[in-house]
Amino acid sequence: MKADNLHVAIIMDGNGRWATERGLPRIAGHRAGVQSVRSVVEAAPQMGISVLTLYAFSEDNWSRPRREVMALFGLLRRYLMLEAKAAAGQGVRIQAIGRRDRLPASLSAALGEAEELTGHGTRLHLRIALDYSSRGALIDAARRLASPLTRESLSQALGPDVDLLIRTSGEQRLSDFLLWECAYAEFHFTARKWPEFGTQELSAALNEFRHRDRRFGGLALKLA
Ligand code: FPP
Repeated sequence: MKADNLHVAIIMDGNGRWATERGLPRIAGHRAGVQSVRSVVEAAPQMGISVLTLYAFSEDNWSRPRREVMALFGLLRRYLMLEAKAAAGQGVRIQAIGRRDRLPASLSAALGEAEELTGHGTRLHLRIALDYSSRGALIDAARRLASPLTRESLSQALGPDVDLLIRTSGEQRLSDFLLWECAYAEFHFTARKWPEFGTQELSAALNEFRHRDRRFGGLALKLA
């Protein structure tokens, strides 16, 4: 059986090291990382992915040098401005998760425009985590809940459960990403750095995922 309508979440790690190894400035790694984002977003719907959540900037990333932070925001803004129209045409709905109030006005405007332009997309829900902290999101969601706090109401407020979590560059931790949503996620860690990650690696991760036996605490439920 082919598992479809998957929620795949990716911690895109290793851009800086990829660049440093090549004697390039760190931002060159982020720029190369945008190309990996493009490939993965384009391939995702044909691979059975209906929700793709990318960790683009964590709350903790504010501690990086201001130059790097601003360059990253510039890349993100450029990506949104260049891709939103094509995304709308391909049925990709773009949405940001995380805080908006601390982002530069130009980036938050680009996000708003991309969200509006792509709002009707149903082929792929692309969620970009920006100024994101899962602990922060949990507290916010719980505070904002109009209905009683239950597992269902909190899940509803936060977003869909993750099926497969991928992290590149050899690190094996969640770094405050989708803590609640990953309760039953499968994990795929690869030594490849994010700029080296493309459709082949995504396909390999999904193949491996489809052969895993997801039991959710019960007895065998074979996916492949
Ligand atoms: C982690 O690598 C990567 C980031 C903090 C930024 C990810 C952003 C992009 C790939 C660019 C734009 C994204 C979109 C959605 C268009 P790192 O810098 O921590 O690498 P290191 O651990 O080797 O230093």
